Amino acid sequence: MFNPETFVKEKVEEIKNQVKGRAIIACSGGVDSTVAAKIVEMAIHENLLVVFVDTGFMRKDEAKKVEALFRRAGFNYRIVDSSKEFIEALRGVTDPEEKRKRIGAKFIEVFERIAKEFGAEYLVQGTIAPDWIESGGGLRDTIKSHHNVGGLPEKMNLKLVEPLRDLYKDEVRKVARYLGIETAERQPFPGPGLAIRIIGEVDEEKLHIVREANAIVEEEVERYYDFESRPWQYFAVLLPLRTVGVHGDKRAYGYTVAIRMVESLDGMTAAYFKAPHDLLERIAIRITTEIKEVNRVVYDITNKPPGTIEWE
Ligand code: XMP
Repeated sequence: MFNPETFVKEKVEEIKNQVKGRAIIACSGGVDSTVAAKIVEMAIHENLLVVFVDTGFMRKDEAKKVEALFRRAGFNYRIVDSSKEFIEALRGVTDPEEKRKRIGAKFIEVFERIAKEFGAEYLVQGTIAPDWIESGGGLRDTIKSHHNVGGLPEKMNLKLVEPLRDLYKDEVRKVARYLGIETAERQPFPGPGLAIRIIGEVDEEKLHIVREANAIVEEEVERYYDFESRPWQYFAVLLPLRTVGVHGDKRAYGYTVAIRMVESLDGMTAAYFKAPHDLLERIAIRITTEIKEVNRVVYDITNKPPGTIEWE
């Protein structure tokens, strides 16, 4: 039986012996990176810097929530607002893979800058067993590396510390509970964030629209279902398409938002979620009344394959 108390005690001792200098971790506020950070923090205290890079592509209030989590955990942390740099890096870019590449490169650039400033010699990562066990070129690997935005390069020349390498997700959750770390149990969210939920070029206005629309979808779904019965993922996508509508008694020419909800076990395949009409209607009404730029909402009924979960 896995015992979180013994695990933490042993790891903290091991890290005390292993890490003889400053360390840094890029932490998303997710359970893996936060637990990894906490264990290392217990061993080396303020010699660990916990960094959240705010790309500007995060969900509504996400940076604030992450900061509150870091404060509660007692971390020496930095929230780095790099949103201007990230938007700039995407000017004129419409190709999804090019967006991912540029976001990944910018992330590394920002993070390296901070690591240097702090004088870090060690890099902590929240790698867990399933992240590396299937290495050897399976399909899962290809998809993962392709998706792994924020994957930090070996050329950083930092010594790697991976306290959760041997754990599975349920064990990480047990450790989190034991340590009193409450990361919200949220749906999966892609590293490049809202940037790949805006089809085509990203700009501030579109980011605002998709962020608000997404918050409405999350709020309504989470009000409708408890954690166990929620879909695997549920979100909004902003289309680069304007259609005619009416706002009050005026003809309006507004944006279209697509709602995507899917059931899945691991993201590799997915079935579209048979959402009840009253839930969909409530979401559509709220989006079109609360976001004046949007006058049409559609629901995606495509499975994966042939579709993917994200639209980009
Ligand atoms: P797709 O769209 O490929 O998504 O069916 C499968 C799962 O992966 C997530 N996803 C990503 N995660 N970086 C990530 O960290 C990415 O670039 C990325 N693209 C897709 C997606 O949300 C779904 O859970």
